Amino acid sequence: MARLSVYSDTDPSVTELSSADPALVTAHLALAGVLFERWSAPQPIPDDADTRTVLEVYAAPVAALKEARGFQSADVMRMPRGLPDAADRRAAFLAEHTHDEDEARFFVRGGGAFYLHMDEKVFRIVCGAGDLLSIPARTKHWFDMGPDPEFTAIRFFTRPDGWVASFTGDVIADRFPKFEPECGAVP
Ligand SMILES: [Fe+2]
Repeated sequence: MARLSVYSDTDPSVTELSSADPALVTAHLALAGVLFERWSAPQPIPDDADTRTVLEVYAAPVAALKEARGFQSADVMRMPRGLPDAADRRAAFLAEHTHDEDEARFFVRGGGAFYLHMDEKVFRIVCGAGDLLSIPARTKHWFDMGPDPEFTAIRFFTRPDGWVASFTGDVIADRFPKFEPECGAVP
């Protein structure tokens, strides 16, 4: 379950709000124009489920989100623990950037932290299994998958070539708490 922490964008030392209450997280993000949902699997899903199985299990909410938000396709991204290039993969989206289209991700297992920079605030959302987050187009944000990434996530696309990151050049991400889950813990 996600935990939302809200900071002033100039002072990461003060947490203005921190909550893991699903209703509060959903409502607070909705006020900022960000979609957050909890999806439950209608049947047990094995940790090593292939792409087809994952998309079959979540077919109903995936179809509903595509219809509601105009996504044309979805895929499944796996980040198994212990990849030799994990540090490079972590670094790829660790700086503030935007996309010209919505970035939506549903965590089947594992997790990571999204940071949304909006209205002079930073919204830190540590997502775990069952969490769907959709970041509006052109929202400044970054993503930390942690020092030893592990997750399976459904990603949504509005274009066949997928989204492209435009980096802002702001080093704000360096000032905020990284995603450092307890060793071996899966959010
Ligand atoms: Fe992004």
